Amino acid sequence: MALWSGRFEKDMDTIVKQYNASIGFDQRLYNYDINGSIAHVTMLAAQNIITPEERDIIINGLEQIRAGIANGDIVFTYEDEDIHMAIESRLIALVGDVGKKVHTGRARNDQSAVDVKQFLCFEIGEIMKALIELEDVILKKAQQYKEHITVGFTHIQHAQPITLGFMFMAYFQMFKRDIQRLADAYERINLCPLGTCALAGTTIPLDRHMTAAALGFAGPTENAMDTVSDRDYILEFLSTASISMMHLSRWAEEFTWWNSTEFSYIAIDDSFCTGSSMMPQKKNPDIAELLRGRCGRVYGDLMGMLTVMKGTPLTYNKDFQEDKEYLFDAVDTWKASVTIFAKMLEKTEFRMDKINAQLQSGFMNATDVAENLVMAGIPFREAHHITGRLVKLCETKGCKLEELEDADIQTVDSRITKATLGKISIKDCVENRKTFGGTAPCEVERQIKNGTDWINEFKNDWR
Ligand code: ARG
Repeated sequence: MALWSGRFEKDMDTIVKQYNASIGFDQRLYNYDINGSIAHVTMLAAQNIITPEERDIIINGLEQIRAGIANGDIVFTYEDEDIHMAIESRLIALVGDVGKKVHTGRARNDQSAVDVKQFLCFEIGEIMKALIELEDVILKKAQQYKEHITVGFTHIQHAQPITLGFMFMAYFQMFKRDIQRLADAYERINLCPLGTCALAGTTIPLDRHMTAAALGFAGPTENAMDTVSDRDYILEFLSTASISMMHLSRWAEEFTWWNSTEFSYIAIDDSFCTGSSMMPQKKNPDIAELLRGRCGRVYGDLMGMLTVMKGTPLTYNKDFQEDKEYLFDAVDTWKASVTIFAKMLEKTEFRMDKINAQLQSGFMNATDVAENLVMAGIPFREAHHITGRLVKLCETKGCKLEELEDADIQTVDSRITKATLGKISIKDCVENRKTFGGTAPCEVERQIKNGTDWINEFKNDWR
């Protein structure tokens, strides 16, 4: 019979026990559960609720259980129900009646939340390291490719020339926002639920500030009712993870088509590709594709958890036990995806011969022609129309804008000549886009410097 079975006449059916049990997945939290219990009994002794001797016996027992779980001597079954009951029942078996004092002034409602929050705070640190590492790789690549020109697309059509460094810094901004979102979510996650008990606090004189500090939280949560029914901290994490996975997935998508035979802008390193079981020639960008696919898992975790929460009344409901598998899956998936993407990116070199061959097509300097006409005094809407006519003329003649002669140009508009079209080589197009945030190498240089300053400052300030 379970530790809580006093008012029960019968045991649960086996299938009910199995259905009810969370030990299969929440055993992952055992270290945090033990840390929480140690902080709790240390506080109980400081408050003269248990004696120092009882505290030491309990802590000693918990450490033995920790070692037993770590070395595999302790094996759990569904009979254990969850990690909290599993550890408490073993503690009582190990140290006797003193062990029955560990759950004084505590419920599993606050215990489960404090375990998950410790886990999450730790894992946010790990994911933050991975995101920072990714940003460092991006900055290095942006520097390396600061002046290398590539095709900028809208609607997957040639639009305007940009530098690869500029493209890297676009992704830098996305992951910067992910880091900021995660750091912001962390501020709210980092509050300690321990001691809020079932839903209303307790008559036992706990010191919640003491346990919060001992476990490394910024402080205790404010309202017990809110605390045991709150899963916003999981939802905020899952939303942040979903947005970041979307960023990775979009870039992974670009990697797959840059790597295609038709594009060949990059050749993904062999160590990130796999072969085909049937077609001997194949080298497939599986890792990029999996990154794209795994985004779906994390969205699923978010949707699942949002759905679990909807319609749950205050305060604790067993539905909340479902939070863990969604959270664990998203933590593992996001962390691994960021880490592997950074490594794949680091090993990726761009094939400038292939990219250069594409730069000449698609009239990517047409906007520059229109803007040069504007600077010669022609209103933009007219300049846009004239340039459109010039593009059409080029298409008929099979030439580029810079190859048009005065005679051709003047058939479109008598006011303009080759000179009015201005400097429109692909290099000029890039170098002349000097507006703040633009693609000119001097601007990309500034963005890299700002990005580097920001990430270095963040590394110093974060926790
Ligand atoms: N395993 C449970 C969970 O993760 C522990 C809380 C159970 N609380 C209760 N009052 N039945 O949510």
